[in-house]
Amino acid sequence: MELIKRPRRLRVNDTMRRLVRETRVSVDDLVYPLFIVEGRDVKKEVPSMPGVYHLSIDMLLEELEEVQSLGIPGVLLFGVPDFKDEVGSGAYSEDGIIQRALREAKKSFPELLLIADVCLCEYTSHGHCGVVEDGRILNDKSVELIARSALSYAEAGADIVAPSDMMDGRIGAIRRLLDANGYEDKAIMAYSAKYASAFYGPFRDAAHSAPAFGDRKTYQMDYSNLKEAIREVEIDIAEGADIVMVKPAMAYLDVINEISRRVDLPVAAYQVSGEYCMIKAAANNGWINEKAAVLESVTAIRRAGAKIIITYYAKQLARWLAG
Ligand code: PBG
Repeated sequence: MELIKRPRRLRVNDTMRRLVRETRVSVDDLVYPLFIVEGRDVKKEVPSMPGVYHLSIDMLLEELEEVQSLGIPGVLLFGVPDFKDEVGSGAYSEDGIIQRALREAKKSFPELLLIADVCLCEYTSHGHCGVVEDGRILNDKSVELIARSALSYAEAGADIVAPSDMMDGRIGAIRRLLDANGYEDKAIMAYSAKYASAFYGPFRDAAHSAPAFGDRKTYQMDYSNLKEAIREVEIDIAEGADIVMVKPAMAYLDVINEISRRVDLPVAAYQVSGEYCMIKAAANNGWINEKAAVLESVTAIRRAGAKIIITYYAKQLARWLAG
């Protein structure tokens, strides 16, 4: 007699489900992104991202206190400067907003991992991630400035630099410049497979970094492509990346999975602003259970193969995971 297969036996109650659970998200996996602005005493909510704030450096330090006490290993810092120009000089000037934030943060929180996003778009008047000439985004000139930015963040105390610009050759250029200046121990988290995505919309409001003309499709990837992501990741690893990232996360679980099977470096995934605010907006309308939806989405990202999850929900997740 053929026995009926009964997978439900392993789901009978919570204890059994705990025993057979395959994937767990830990606070150790989380990175919390933060937006830093000029001024003092500034903590201003981003309209399109409820629960996410613009913070002045003094308020950042208060925030880091909380992040550290929650056990979150690291923060990813974005600068929102008052001053912008054609060549994004705020990104690599010694007293740029992020350089000052890093120095202060490192002094008070030497243990916390400080990750500096490296890109020009928050600092350029045209909002592109590189140098523009005749409407074209120039690769090699941009890479030079991007590497300079990475070096100046390392000097200011960043433990990890995270280039998000998608120019060709930037990982190698950053690695060489860091090593030549005695920073061979600073890690590079490469935004390797970064897609041109509609899900960055709210971030561009937050970072005041929407491109003034055109779009980012000549440097960020076409969302139709998977093989191209593999090539980008292989190039970044060959050039010296320590961690590779896929971004966004939820619509790209196949990419995360493919990359994590192929490479033996830690894979990071970025649950981006649009992913955050879709859950947040639905939750604020009473349409979705926020905690359940967030836990499900980050577990899916982890199950797909990401070790590191960058998420605006990091603090809330740390609390939920602690029970
Ligand atoms: C900067 C950068 C962006 C994001 C991270 N770094 C925006 C963009 O490429 O336009 C998006 C993050 C998010 O949406 O949360 N290049």
